[in-house]
Amino acid sequence: MNIILGITGGIAAYKTASLARLLVKQGYSVRVVMTAGACEFITPLTFQALTGNAVHTTLLDEQAEKGMGHIELAKWADKIIVAPASANSIASMCSGSANELLYAVILASKAKLFIAPAMNEVMWANPVVQKNIQELKKMYVDKIQFIGPDAGEQACGDVGYGRMSEPEYIVEFVSRLNEQITVEQILVGKKVMITAGPTQELIDPVRYITNKSSGKMGYALAIAAQKMGAQVILVSGPVNLKCPENIAIINVQSAKQMLQQALANINDCDIFIGCAAVADYACSQVSEHKLKKIDGQSTMTLELIKNPDILASIAQLPNKPFCVGFAAETQNVEQNAKIKLEQKNLDWIVANDVSKSEIGFNSDDNQVTLISKEKTLQFKKMSKQKLAYSILNAVCTDF
Ligand SMILES: Cc1cc2nc3c(=O)[nH]c(=O)nc-3n(C[C@H](O)[C@H](O)[C@H](O)COP(=O)(O)O)c2cc1C
Repeated sequence: MNIILGITGGIAAYKTASLARLLVKQGYSVRVVMTAGACEFITPLTFQALTGNAVHTTLLDEQAEKGMGHIELAKWADKIIVAPASANSIASMCSGSANELLYAVILASKAKLFIAPAMNEVMWANPVVQKNIQELKKMYVDKIQFIGPDAGEQACGDVGYGRMSEPEYIVEFVSRLNEQITVEQILVGKKVMITAGPTQELIDPVRYITNKSSGKMGYALAIAAQKMGAQVILVSGPVNLKCPENIAIINVQSAKQMLQQALANINDCDIFIGCAAVADYACSQVSEHKLKKIDGQSTMTLELIKNPDILASIAQLPNKPFCVGFAAETQNVEQNAKIKLEQKNLDWIVANDVSKSEIGFNSDDNQVTLISKEKTLQFKKMSKQKLAYSILNAVCTDF
């Protein structure tokens, strides 16, 4: 697989060195094309050393075979990643400007385009930038994918959306698209509620008890359900994920808040998927002020009380929706899941083994067993995106 890594003039260009390294490690052939702006931030030599290939920086290049480097590169590439994609590069791609080698290659290539924007949060929110992005999506339809940007602290000191996605995520995103996912519109007219992420149970104003859930599985399910035609409500604990497009999101912190919001919005839902890793216990008392270290006292005891069971509460409703639960287990996975299925009056339960680091919490892949009263379906290890569609397809055969 041949990848052109296009680098434009943004401060995040330094992160692209890691991206180049990771792509090479994954076995891709990588050629780097840099704009004049990019060369001000990081040297072509760095990328030549990392990829083992000469770096391309000029459109009018006498060294290129037949003097048409942009056409040769355009034909060579299977995929083009632009990271970081500056506001200027997005505008250039949108307007069809070809005054830089990178933009000319993009115009001349049939390769799939991955754009990882990176800019100051105010620039990112600027309607001109957003309009350019929407127009690019419209013009390139299936050919273009935007990756990020993420939220967080920026090089300029501001905090918000605009950080380039992490190199590991970009590689994973680009590689994942090799998986074939078929989307059938089997949830049209249905309303689906999904809970996702961890909960945080306060100890005092600055501390809380939480768990390792990243929310990736729940968000993948929400996106899949929406793509399959459903109206989706996502009740989310605190995660570092961007709210998927066209999905109503309700952000909560604690298990109690999650239950409150789930009950308040469940009324006409057809399916409920409890994917959140809800804390089993919360502190019996939340201290009003930050707890202090006490001299001479080497231990400290917190009293915990049981949290409400969200899945069981929804499954006990008189007009209960079709209920799907998740059972994160570290031992006797299937057996424990079957007990939960019965006890909580669920229709299906997704059992996953969170003791393995390559699947489960925070990883991008998962391997699960789907269990109902009548059936047990075992899925092989796959990306959480693909698994989300597989789970929904299976659930819909019973629903
Ligand atoms: C220190 C510095 C940092 C910059 N960082 C960014 C950035 O993160 N994102 C961005 O869109 N533009 C940034 N710019 C502005 C771009 O470098 C400028 O628009 C340039 O023309 C981009 O050209 P190119 O997209 O063709 O590489 C920065 C400029 C400077 C001086």
